[in-house]
Amino acid sequence: MKKILKLKKEKNAIILAHNYQRPEIQDIADYLGDSLGLSLHASETDAKIIVFCGVTFMAETAALLNPDKTVLIPDRNALCPLAGMLPAELARMYREKHPEANMVLYVNTLAEAKAECDAVCTSANSVETVNRMKSDTVLFGPDANLAKYTEKFTAKHLIPVPRSGFCPVHKLFSKDDVLELKKRYPEAEVLVHPECDPEVCDIADLVGSTAKMSDWVKKSNADKFIVATEIGMLHRLKKDREDAVYIPAYNQAVCVNMKMHTLEKLYLSLKKERYVVNVRPDIATAARKAVDFVLK
Ligand code: 13P
Ligand code: SF4
Repeated sequence: MKKILKLKKEKNAIILAHNYQRPEIQDIADYLGDSLGLSLHASETDAKIIVFCGVTFMAETAALLNPDKTVLIPDRNALCPLAGMLPAELARMYREKHPEANMVLYVNTLAEAKAECDAVCTSANSVETVNRMKSDTVLFGPDANLAKYTEKFTAKHLIPVPRSGFCPVHKLFSKDDVLELKKRYPEAEVLVHPECDPEVCDIADLVGSTAKMSDWVKKSNADKFIVATEIGMLHRLKKDREDAVYIPAYNQAVCVNMKMHTLEKLYLSLKKERYVVNVRPDIATAARKAVDFVLK
């Protein structure tokens, strides 16, 4: 731990970590947040090196927003399977088939796919972003559950791209499990990530990004929360409000990709300045435009 902090100072580096990281990574991070918060922080930092503890699409977003900085990822195998469900060719195919429709992509996409769309959104601003599109029909991907959830709050017609993209971790939550827990803890509030199936979202007190969950518990009068998102979020919430009790809606909901980064790998990443995250310049220019659409 001390060695990491020393190296970080010497190299003018900053550690950004997603809310699903291992507790010890969360505890050492300079900034801990959701996809939107991490992108914003990456675009504002003065540090020379950004060490990104999250999945690769997040580190790529930091890299394309910071072409003059070095972005490192401690383990480059930390891939998001949801992002892999929308290759750039497929995004192009949908665009050709629906030339009248704008395309909004969730930040959980590869940089090549981002380069094909009009705007990139996160689960924290999907409704707002879709509403800003000129077309009445909007192509939206790759998470079909987020598409359904977003569509409920806009007058636009959303076409999911691909038809049923999903997060394998959020698919694990079930309405029955949540209702069972609700019977045991009737006073608990239910927090659900919009990547969950609609019937799980329907019984939530809050449907929102990990940052929205964090804001919610800080303001809520409840002291018990049933949490339907990746298990790492419980540590994050404990940091927000230590007095509250957090009950996982399913205790095996682990994103193994998020957990690939360890303190050892983080130390080696800083020491050896590896693994550098690069995005091809032409792709970075096009993708940056789509990301900037929501950041500015
Ligand atoms: P948030 O932007 O809500 O942190 O979500 C990112 C993610 O990967 C959810 O699975
Ligand atoms: Fe991707 Fe799901 Fe892991 Fe989030 S939790 S990084 S969407 S696989």
